[in-house]
Amino acid sequence: MKLVAALVVSFAGLAAGPDKSAPQTGSAPASALPVIETFSRSARECAKCHAAESKTQPSTPMAHAAETTAECNVLKKHALMKTRLGRYDYRIERKGDQSLYSVSDGTETVTYPIRYAFGLGEAGQTYILEKGGEYYESFVSYYQAIDGLDITIGDQPLKPSSLVDAAGRHIGSHEIAMCFGCHTSNAVSGGRVVEKTLLPGITCEHCHGPTENHLLGLQKGDAELAEMKKLAGMSAEQSAQFCGECHRTWEYVAEHGPHSVGNVRFQPYRLTNSKCFDVDDVRISCTSCHNPHENVDRVAAHYDTKCGACHSGATETGGNAKAKICKVGTKDCATCHMPKTDLPGAHHQFTDHDIRIVAKNQPYPE
Ligand code: HEC
Ligand code: HEC
Ligand code: HEC
Ligand code: HEC
Ligand code: HEC
Ligand code: HEC
Ligand code: HEC
Repeated sequence: MKLVAALVVSFAGLAAGPDKSAPQTGSAPASALPVIETFSRSARECAKCHAAESKTQPSTPMAHAAETTAECNVLKKHALMKTRLGRYDYRIERKGDQSLYSVSDGTETVTYPIRYAFGLGEAGQTYILEKGGEYYESFVSYYQAIDGLDITIGDQPLKPSSLVDAAGRHIGSHEIAMCFGCHTSNAVSGGRVVEKTLLPGITCEHCHGPTENHLLGLQKGDAELAEMKKLAGMSAEQSAQFCGECHRTWEYVAEHGPHSVGNVRFQPYRLTNSKCFDVDDVRISCTSCHNPHENVDRVAAHYDTKCGACHSGATETGGNAKAKICKVGTKDCATCHMPKTDLPGAHHQFTDHDIRIVAKNQPYPE
């Protein structure tokens, strides 16, 4: 409960700032979500005692939510990427450890160095450009499904009228702190991005908090000092708030939108809307279906026992007496009840966490 209370306070603390009503990939919501201050200790230091987590976590998409240009696999693998949108030609060219992003209208060309690549668990990757200490979000992104460039999600309505606008969207200091707060670690101090301490991606300490005292306490044999904040066994509501700090909470989406299929990416919102959701129940928490230290399991059968924890009819084994049993299917429950849903412009289908009976031709429940 303490954890949730702390999160609620930090949500309230950030209510001010420029608003953008429709958060989409690559165009971050600019208000209301907290910017998490983080710390920098590498997984290697935890491996000695927490072997399992330290082995798998560093290769998850979350750990790679951002990459430097030098380390970015997509940029390393593509010596040249190009596309034409309207009257503008876009090129991303590899030069040693760098990648240059340029846009031309046929007469003039502007070029920016790519500083960071954000994303690419599954869908796509957007580039953070920098010039003169100002940050820009690339107007085109890389998409895995087409192995090439297309407009960044959320930027479709923009009609660039100059070469500079066509290159990317300027990101103000508040918004860039939000982007880095969710995609990198140890990057935000006093509400500003501090690149000197930044670690790309989400580290152990980003979720678990600082470990200075943990390590010191273990060394001294002081159990109290060594104690970490408790994340295991969160209720459905607690996990929806905790993961929702980045994946967007129900409250956040309810207030800021999008109230359209655009919110299929925001699992805490979708799941909370489902009849399966019960705030106090651990069986429908994010961590009952997902291990945050491992890649998401893409085999439907993995989730059957999770559904069965409530929908088996076996109340004596902890099943929820109220939860009904399916007359249609006995396995791969999620394939019918958590439909893969196209997010327009994303070249990717997201899994709808609004678990429900999906009727044919039923409009998307927003
Ligand atoms: C010298 C061994 C050691 C090292 C190194 C170490 N830990 Fe621990 N950690 C422990 C022990 C022992 C516990 C208590 C285990 C228990 O009783 O559940 C613990 C508990 C934890 C817990 C709490 C688990 C829970 O559910 O309460 C977290 C989180 C954690 N460690 C994270 C880390 C991180 C992150 C690092 C790396 C920065 C790290 N630890 C390094 C030994 C270590
Ligand atoms: C500090 C921000 C942050 C927190 C907290 C967070 N996530 Fe994430 N998560 C991300 C980002 C950013 C991505 C996208 C990574 C990418 O695609 O590059 C992501 C991606 C994922 C993925 C998709 C992996 C894939 O294969 O595409 C899963 C599953 C996931 N998170 C689960 C969780 C769960 C469960 C929690 C809570 C225990 C959680 N996350 C908390 C930021 C966060
Ligand atoms: C409130 C936290 C938050 C902010 C702010 C944020 N992101 Fe994300 N981002 C996420 C999470 C969580 C995911 C994974 C779920 C998804 O795909 O929407 C994600 C996914 C992405 C992806 C798609 C990765 C993939 O392959 O699925 C890209 C690209 C991306 N973000 C870029 C950005 C950029 C650029 C900014 C800033 C302009 C930004 N994000 C701001 C949390 C955030
Ligand atoms: C995206 C957030 C996130 C990241 C990153 C993360 N953890 Fe965790 N960790 C959690 C959550 C949530 C739990 C509780 C899981 C549960 O309820 O089963 C947890 C549980 C643990 C536990 C306790 C396991 C137990 O049996 O209770 C340890 C130890 C741990 N993490 C270590 C690490 C280490 C080491 C790293 C980095 C290599 C790491 N975590 C990275 C979110 C995270
Ligand atoms: C009842 C089980 C269940 C619960 C609870 C659950 N998920 Fe999922 N999640 C799934 C399934 C099933 C998939 C899709 C796996 C696949 O592709 O086969 C998935 C996929 C994802 C992905 C990858 C992106 C996508 O759309 O495929 C993310 C991110 C994610 N979940 C986050 C969360 C978060 C955050 C929570 C808590 C609010 C949560 N999940 C709760 C079952 C669950
Ligand atoms: C925490 C317990 C719990 C879990 C876990 C759970 N459900 Fe439910 N579910 C319920 C309850 C309670 C209801 C409402 C009563 C009912 O219809 O059985 C419900 C309702 C449903 C409905 C009917 C919804 C409607 O639109 O009428 C479907 C379908 C469903 N669940 C499928 C699933 C699937 C598939 C999973 C796993 C991916 C799952 N549930 C996981 C508790 C749960
Ligand atoms: C082939 C698709 C499919 C699969 C697989 C499937 N279901 Fe269903 N399920 C349906 C349909 C369609 C309905 C609605 C039936 C109706 O309206 O009579 C339904 C209804 C339900 C209901 C509501 C029952 C009621 O009486 O209102 C629940 C709960 C449910 N399913 C859970 C599950 C669980 C748990 C699994 C996995 C063990 C599962 N389903 C597998 C298609 C499927």
